[in-house]
Amino acid sequence: MERENFGSKIGAVLAAAGSAVGLGNVWRFPIETGQNGGAAFIIIYVLCIILLGLPIMISEFLIGRHTHANTAGAFRIISNGSPWKWVGRMGVFTGWFILCYYVVVGAWTMHYTFLSAINAFYDVPAKQYEDVFNNFVSNPWLPTFWLFLFIGVIHYVITRGVRSGIEKSAKLMMPTLFIITIFLAVCSVSLPGASLGIEFLLKPDWSKVNSTTILDAMGQAFYSLSLAMGCLCTYASYFDKKTPLAKSAVNVAFIDTLIAIMAGFIIFPSVFNIGMNPNEVGVGAGLTFVSLPNVFQQALGNGSFLAVIFSSLFYFLLFVAALTSAISLHEVATAYVTEEFKMSRRNGATLVTVSILVLGTLCSLSFGPLSDVKLFDRNIFSLFDDLSGRVLLPLGGMLISIFAGWVLDRQLYREEISNGGDLRTPYFKVLIFALRYIAPLAIGLVFLDQIGVFNLIPH
Ligand code: PHE
Repeated sequence: MERENFGSKIGAVLAAAGSAVGLGNVWRFPIETGQNGGAAFIIIYVLCIILLGLPIMISEFLIGRHTHANTAGAFRIISNGSPWKWVGRMGVFTGWFILCYYVVVGAWTMHYTFLSAINAFYDVPAKQYEDVFNNFVSNPWLPTFWLFLFIGVIHYVITRGVRSGIEKSAKLMMPTLFIITIFLAVCSVSLPGASLGIEFLLKPDWSKVNSTTILDAMGQAFYSLSLAMGCLCTYASYFDKKTPLAKSAVNVAFIDTLIAIMAGFIIFPSVFNIGMNPNEVGVGAGLTFVSLPNVFQQALGNGSFLAVIFSSLFYFLLFVAALTSAISLHEVATAYVTEEFKMSRRNGATLVTVSILVLGTLCSLSFGPLSDVKLFDRNIFSLFDDLSGRVLLPLGGMLISIFAGWVLDRQLYREEISNGGDLRTPYFKVLIFALRYIAPLAIGLVFLDQIGVFNLIPH
């Protein structure tokens, strides 16, 4: 069967940006920025993107596009069957593993969009938001219902195929996401007291920068760009020969960083408007599902029309961001099973979907009926989260950079990024240097730290 391609360059960039822009942009980046010295953190983060993120992203693009195969196949082909082929398999596994818990949070964003739209947060006392959230996630049925719906939407897009499913949905969803982000940021910065929030986010404070900050920035850059889980490699296998790899990577990184910074403009002005201390708002799920619903109600008027619109759009934004990322993760696994086990796309996608339904439900129930099931002191959800984020991702990233910098044929590398000599590549030497030395060392440090070998960051 003929392999599909993305129909346009812009479609290819938007799809990859859809993968990169996800929950991490909204629920981690702004908080990390605020607490780690504002613009000082942003500068370090951007350096990490340039020195680590871009070289690895370009390499993933290159491996995918050169081989036109799923990530496991791609690494097998490009490594001529040497043990490096395991890096590709590991990427597929990591992507699938992340998807199992990512869909759970995606489902929560749907529920919170719904709650916001029906004005369910009207008159909820500030202290009760935690109960609202805990009651919801520990309920055996409701989160499962949303989970099935969320996975159903992913399945629908994936079975429509690369062009009329993934590309078309990215072309629709990414501009929507962008418009909503701008609208919410403008609303938020026009609140009274917003300038304190902007200052918190942007004022460079170098005194807060230490080794922990740098490790945080590296880890975040890595996760945010969706590196080392096969997503970018798989999507790049649908790029055509004319897609400029380095330029596309720069565009994706730019969009990703812009949305992350704008998310800060949505969150902090509102937080400061109600006189809340940004150190109390938490991070991740606590920030998103406990602090923010309260912040929005108070800042915009309890139960007011504006609060309903703002809050619904905010959760819808998260939903879209999570959905496009989840689609990219699903595609990694779907492309793998369809091509490696010679199945039809429909059957391959169904197999992946069923596996996600089962494991996703287990992750989801680990907040309720299965909360007692623990391994290494973690519930099922945290186990998936920690194992992928702390171990598999950095390890994969390190191996990819070593492979691209030391093993991959230089000539092939240059051929691919210059599109057969059509594009100039003055950055080539720097790129290879970053892949050979900077990226493996830097990621190696993050990795050792994450698994607690030397504890630079007290977890
Ligand atoms: N990059 C996504 C984010 O910022 C997370 C993600 C990880 C997406 C892995 C796909 C794969 O949230």
